[in-house]
Amino acid sequence: MTVTVVDHPLVRHKLSVLRDRATNSAEFRRVAGEIGTLLAYEATRDLPLVAVDVHTPLETMTGEQLAGPDVVLVPLLRAGLALLDPLLHLLPNARVGFIGLYRDESTHQPHVYYSKLPDQLGERRLLLLDPMLATGGSTSAACDILKEAGARHLTLVCLVAAPEGVARMEADHPDVDVVVASLDRQLNAAAYILPGLGDAGDRIFGTV
Ligand code: PRP
Ligand code: URA
Repeated sequence: MTVTVVDHPLVRHKLSVLRDRATNSAEFRRVAGEIGTLLAYEATRDLPLVAVDVHTPLETMTGEQLAGPDVVLVPLLRAGLALLDPLLHLLPNARVGFIGLYRDESTHQPHVYYSKLPDQLGERRLLLLDPMLATGGSTSAACDILKEAGARHLTLVCLVAAPEGVARMEADHPDVDVVVASLDRQLNAAAYILPGLGDAGDRIFGTV
């Protein structure tokens, strides 16, 4: 498993805006999307290309275009939705699958309530979108679902990860790469990431 921490100054600046408890939902959504765009550059770095003839106004040259089949974006509901639009702007032909799950507040175990995925997953690159990797239970369960549906080439794109979540993914899904804006210090007793940014879904959708 490769963990890539995107510590670009723009990402670090924007992440501090997200961490600030005074940041409202509208600003939180906007900035989370901007970080998603920056992380996407790293997460898509190894997408395959094919050579194509390009006719510039002056001559013909050999250019490149993304090779098929189309990438699949899979936001984990709810909070992953904040990362979907920015990635669709970069990958307009991407297919989109959805996995709905929430973490039980007392047991911290994930509960899956929805899944709708494109076909031919085994041939496609998948980007799993979720801002938070805390215990890792939610992401691990989502990877189980995706692999049962045939997925083989998965990358997790997330904003903040705890060491516990990274360790869980390394144990359960060592073949899944992680692209993250920050590796934070630890989980608290309620399994929230410290220093973290709070409950991502609540902050994105104003349900606090
Ligand atoms: C949050 C977050 C992750 C999960 C991370 O979702 O978006 O999916 O918690 O925690 P874990 O690594 O310990 O599983 P939440 O359950 O709050 O649901 P929501 O997105 O609907 O708010
Ligand atoms: N889910 C969140 O949204 N935030 C955390 O810190 C942990 C899980």
